[in-house]
Amino acid sequence: MTLVTSKEIVTKALNGHYAVGAFNAVNMETAQAIVGAGIEENSPLIMQVTQTTLNYTDPEELAALMKVLVDRVSIPIALHLDHGRTFEVVMKFLRLGFTSVMIDGSLQPDGKTPRTYEENVEITRKVVEAAHAVGVTVEGELGTLGQIGEEITEKSGALTDPDQAARFVEDTGVDMLAVSIGTTHGLYKGKPFIDVERVKAISEKVGIPLVMHGGSFTPDEDVRAAIRFGIAKVNIDTNIRVAFFEAVRDSIVKIEAEHEKADRAGIPRKYDIRKILEPARTAMQAVIEDRIRVFGSSGKAE
Ligand code: 13P
Repeated sequence: MTLVTSKEIVTKALNGHYAVGAFNAVNMETAQAIVGAGIEENSPLIMQVTQTTLNYTDPEELAALMKVLVDRVSIPIALHLDHGRTFEVVMKFLRLGFTSVMIDGSLQPDGKTPRTYEENVEITRKVVEAAHAVGVTVEGELGTLGQIGEEITEKSGALTDPDQAARFVEDTGVDMLAVSIGTTHGLYKGKPFIDVERVKAISEKVGIPLVMHGGSFTPDEDVRAAIRFGIAKVNIDTNIRVAFFEAVRDSIVKIEAEHEKADRAGIPRKYDIRKILEPARTAMQAVIEDRIRVFGSSGKAE
């Protein structure tokens, strides 16, 4: 049993100047790729699920699968709820045995409308009380992260303010803080501006591990600098999705060529789902291993 809280592994990362990757799982193949990469790199891991996954699959089934994978290995792994938007959703994941939750109080449950600072504090504090009572780590968010295709700059006013961050951590008691520093979810339109100086300023004021959302396709040099300045958890989802899509497309192109050959030879076509998903799982694991190396957490499983 290697299920740990994210506070445990992320605090070690902050002190050791590396970051733990938090990778999104949606099904068996993604979860296997994540755990497989952690084993290969002998790295601590955070395996996370967003609340929208509840619309795709029964969370009890997914959680059971994730727990079996975690139980079998000796690297430390935390199971984390990514972007929980309501108290009720967080409670659901606590009941599933997750060891870490995010309450994204920066936005209303619609995921678009900003909450005021006071509203953010209110919901975050409520989650902290409930989660800490059962020993679960809480990640809060202050400032608004860029959504897909959006550019977050000083001018847009969505970047995290270091003084307000210090007040937020004190007002809520969160264990880790997601900060808005120029990264966005999904793909970037051009080369992003990542405000690594802001990471340093926030980190000096709050003293707790900071979280980089929108880690995919963020330039490696910015990721490494941000880690040096206090980022200790980096979220990765889009990198995995792109690897999956590309591998599936390549497999289908290859299989269709085989089908055409079979047709010409008058042989029945073969359909094997595993011939598509297996290379996709391998491709996803490779990108996760690559990110783990950039985050500096290889060999840090203890
Ligand atoms: P990416 O879309 O950059 O992978 O970000 C994922 C994320 O931050 C999940 O919370």
